[in-house]
Amino acid sequence: MAVRPPNRLRLAPRWPSLRRLFGKASAAHAHGTATGRVIHDYFHRKAHAQGYTLSHSQQRVIDCMAQHATALLGSAAPPLPGLYLHGAVGRGKSWLLDGFFQAIPLEQKQRLHFHEFFARLHQGMFSHRDQPDALATTLDDLLRDCRVLCFDEFHVHDIGDAMLIKRLFKALFRRGILLLVTSNYPPEGLLPNPLYHARFKPVIDLINARMQVMEVGGPHDYRSQARTHTHQLFTQGQYIWPGTASQRQASNLPPANAPAIALPVGPRHLPARYCEDRTIGFTFTDLCEQPTAVMDYLELCRRFDHWIIDELPSLADCSIAAQQRFINLVDVLYDQDKHLVLMGQRSLRESLDGDAIDLARTRSRLGQLVEVREPA
Ligand SMILES: Nc1ncnc2c1ncn2[C@@H]1O[C@H](COP(=O)(O)OP(=O)(O)OP(=O)(O)O)[C@@H](O)[C@H]1O
Ligand SMILES: [Mg+2]
Repeated sequence: MAVRPPNRLRLAPRWPSLRRLFGKASAAHAHGTATGRVIHDYFHRKAHAQGYTLSHSQQRVIDCMAQHATALLGSAAPPLPGLYLHGAVGRGKSWLLDGFFQAIPLEQKQRLHFHEFFARLHQGMFSHRDQPDALATTLDDLLRDCRVLCFDEFHVHDIGDAMLIKRLFKALFRRGILLLVTSNYPPEGLLPNPLYHARFKPVIDLINARMQVMEVGGPHDYRSQARTHTHQLFTQGQYIWPGTASQRQASNLPPANAPAIALPVGPRHLPARYCEDRTIGFTFTDLCEQPTAVMDYLELCRRFDHWIIDELPSLADCSIAAQQRFINLVDVLYDQDKHLVLMGQRSLRESLDGDAIDLARTRSRLGQLVEVREPA
């Protein structure tokens, strides 16, 4: 079909309004491009200040984040509504996520540990259970006008959670929220339990269809480099073994086998072994062999900055549930940057033996504690 040349005469009277329109679009475009530069500049300044050399994959992610920011605040074509970063432990995923969160010049943003968001989601859905759409009402409460949502450490181990995650992600995409996620798992590796994995496939398909999936790779766990340890309380913690009376005395720690104190946590009591000011002490059994959950750890983190966890056993001898609770606990303590003194009978390496990917994350984090051993 022939395309007729524009009728300039008829167009002329509309020219000022078109110019206003294009003027606005190009201003938005310029703003968007400037935002992309803000993201690049922020990361390069931050890396320089910390003495980091960015890995190739980190540079690729930063380019991609700059595009997302440009689209969000300007007029560029929007890429997919999400960015999914995955990779082995200590490759700098959370560093990227936190950097983007800091750098994006927007008020309507939230950065949350996935555990925390999910715990709040469950709580909200329970209190809004009489509403026709409890999820939507809870998201209205939790997110308000949020436009950028950052979830650190996304992982799924429960098929019940999996179904809610699918509804959650769909709802977030419908709201036009830019979702950024970090995980140790590529989408295909989520919910690895073979009993449930097939039922989780629709969520994997949704992630692959709606999120840009990028690996943050590289040969090194940056946590093993001493220079990354500055400015963190967590890394000033200790792993003390085998926890003799003289070691406890030297570090000003409570004696072994202290009687339990009933500590109110949420609607019930947990047996603590020590509680003074902002310091709390538990045995591994007190916390991880009981049906405790992330909500409990988060509540305790609001009240206590110094943590003592005594009698760490060999995790390989514990139930999967207890291992998972310990993994979650360490994730929360690390994320909230709490000071931790952990005590066990064996070396940390022996105590944390096991193959689970999540355990690799725990090992990487606890590996930053100073290991204190009784002299032979
Ligand atoms: N390019 C880099 N060079 C050196 N250190 C880095 C670099 N990028 C990040 N780091 C540092 O490495 C440590 C680990 O990074 P980060 O927590 O982001 O890893 P991660 O990939 O999120 O790990 P995990 O999977 O365990 O959550 C942090 O202290 C961070 O500041
Ligand atoms: Mg991380």
